[in-house]
Amino acid sequence: MLRNRFQITMILAATMMAAGFMPVTASAQASRSPVAPRRELVESVVREAYDKFKGETNGKNADYIPYLAQVDSKLFGIAIVTADNQVLTLGDVNYSFSIQSISKVFTLALALEELGPDKVFQRIGSEPTGRPFNSVPAVVDMPTHSGNPLVNAGAIATMSLISGKDANEKWNKILAFYSKAAGERLTLIEEVYKSEAATNAGNKALSMLLAKYDRIYADPFESVDIYTKQCSVGVNASQLARMGATLANNGINPATREQVIKREHVPYLLATMTMAGLYDSSGYWAWHVGLPAKSGVGGGIVAIVPGKGAIAVFAPPLDEAGNSVKAQKVIEYVANKLDFNLYSPASVGLK
Ligand code: DON
Repeated sequence: MLRNRFQITMILAATMMAAGFMPVTASAQASRSPVAPRRELVESVVREAYDKFKGETNGKNADYIPYLAQVDSKLFGIAIVTADNQVLTLGDVNYSFSIQSISKVFTLALALEELGPDKVFQRIGSEPTGRPFNSVPAVVDMPTHSGNPLVNAGAIATMSLISGKDANEKWNKILAFYSKAAGERLTLIEEVYKSEAATNAGNKALSMLLAKYDRIYADPFESVDIYTKQCSVGVNASQLARMGATLANNGINPATREQVIKREHVPYLLATMTMAGLYDSSGYWAWHVGLPAKSGVGGGIVAIVPGKGAIAVFAPPLDEAGNSVKAQKVIEYVANKLDFNLYSPASVGLK
């Protein structure tokens, strides 16, 4: 159901305090935020983007996972969380959608915690494939076979690096880690998981190919199953923006103040997102937007503005590459209007 909530709400510390998080006072934090001085501008640009793209009808819900085909394609929500925990939301930001491939960033973060960057990149790789996200030929042709941690093969292999005495322990560790990044407890959307598990023969095939090349590090089908669960974790736009803001804030969750990801790992995660976060559209994205980002076939995209915050947009219809059409347009519009493109000198104040 699309509810036309044109009212932008700035939800400051009160919400977080009510949720039991460490209090953050707006006045104390405002002076530290590079976004806060331009709060009205950010609000008006986000509202403009919402109004401009709400009527966009291009794209189509993912239908290779049956559940996703029947999600209301008019749902549309935008959330920004700044590094100092200011929250700005517009539209359908409470609807819980499956995180899908955005999960890959956080499983990579967990693998980096457990093994460190050298081992992870030796065992997985970091090159864009130049191929669609579910490409079988890429697994055969690429020297690393796994490609990088954000395409399906590399993500399944990355998941297989996570330690645990059994599948349950590994899965619980992943879910707890994502929850720390979001600052609240996330849960599995059972129907998405069941729908995807019944139709994931392609990912099982990728896992067996990885096994052939010795590039998967636990039982292949067990790894696909946990990977399928990680993709079926439910997030709403606000939670996703907070996960992004944790990356923007040196790995510290701005709401809970917990160091979730080691600060020295953040550049690896953002570099990987820049190269492959939007699959075979990552080049277009770098060219036009210039922000590390990650998409999922659930309809979410989160983009990171390092040191400042993150913007998450949810709108189910996808383009050919599997990226939300509206989310790309909104983030491109907001990033350009606010000079967030990291490759532009304007992003650091040079005009
Ligand atoms: O493995 C899959 O196909 C899905 N669980 C995730 C794919 C995905 O999100 C690609 N995104 N743009």
